[in-house]
Amino acid sequence: MNGEITILGIESSCDDTSAAVLRDNVLLSNVIASQAVHIKYGGVIPELASRAHQQNIIPVVDTALKEAGITIDEVDAIAFTRGPGLVGSLLVGVSFAKGLSIAQNIPLVEVNHLQGHILSHLIDLPDRELPHPRFPFLCLLVSGGHTQIVRVDSPTEMEILGTTIDDAAGEAFDKCAKVMGLPYPGGPVIDRLAQEGDPKAFHFAHPHVEGYNYSFSGLKTSFLYTLRDAVKENPDFIEQHKADLCASLQHTIIEILLKQLVRVSKETGIRDIAIAGGVSANSGLRNGIQREGKKRGWRTFLPEFKFTTDNAAMIAMAGYHRYQKGQFSSLDIAPVARLEELL
Ligand code: KG4
Ligand code: ZN
Repeated sequence: MNGEITILGIESSCDDTSAAVLRDNVLLSNVIASQAVHIKYGGVIPELASRAHQQNIIPVVDTALKEAGITIDEVDAIAFTRGPGLVGSLLVGVSFAKGLSIAQNIPLVEVNHLQGHILSHLIDLPDRELPHPRFPFLCLLVSGGHTQIVRVDSPTEMEILGTTIDDAAGEAFDKCAKVMGLPYPGGPVIDRLAQEGDPKAFHFAHPHVEGYNYSFSGLKTSFLYTLRDAVKENPDFIEQHKADLCASLQHTIIEILLKQLVRVSKETGIRDIAIAGGVSANSGLRNGIQREGKKRGWRTFLPEFKFTTDNAAMIAMAGYHRYQKGQFSSLDIAPVARLEELL
């Protein structure tokens, strides 16, 4: 075991409580407690999320250590998500990490949640190596809160080349799903319904934005108006056209995402292309990236499904690289809600 580094990762930025153990870049365990409490409200209720994290965090960490077959004495550093996210949720993970750090005399490493999503592409499994992009690569990071194109120069050096100026891609899925009366989170439901529909049945607005940025609020408005006008004529319109609406909406979101990504790849010459974040689970996006990649000579990297939504494995991975660079955090560290406060 000499020379190996063992990291305990902790993630609590939104509605999943997760802990993971990583030995170098090999994942030994990754435990996720998802919070069902939000489903009946059609979105995450921050106060309820914090309380659920408080209940889950100790059993989740305990299980992660047990599943990894290690004790806390073997942990070299505790990596935790500092932000961005819901502050009340982050506070639970940050405070827990500090307590454990003091009790066991283990160093702390803070992690930017979004860098975690990207670095999930460096993880290997005990029985299987996974494909890893070569640096520099581009990552399309698509989650419920963020939509970015990031140039990744090394595990600790990244630059955001484009970002959304309003809604995130996941938000576009979730908000349009809500309008159709679909349950939260809407992304996976739309993904499933879209398989049965015609992606060309409806046309929705495409944005015009500067640089490599994104915008999804125009699409959302055009989707809403289409439904509003149609329902006036036919109250059963949504029910009758659900699959076509989902397929067309998903098709438009993917077109918007790919258009800018293709531009950035052309203009930077970078052709190792990864996707990450909750929306990277979308089957249409996964197919679309691979199709585009074949056409353009890209090497494309799709995350395993378990690494698409929030998980502590990716936090441990990011923490491992910060640990190696000696980037430790002190005990007065506090969580931050917004990405800008981390940069
Ligand atoms: O990364 P994530 O778990 O949490 C954030 O950090 O935001 O992403 C959650 C988002 C939600 O908007 C959810 O609807 C979306 O990911 N999502 C999907 C799919 N699975 C999750 N969107 C489209 N298709 C999917 N299959
Ligand atoms: Zn996330």
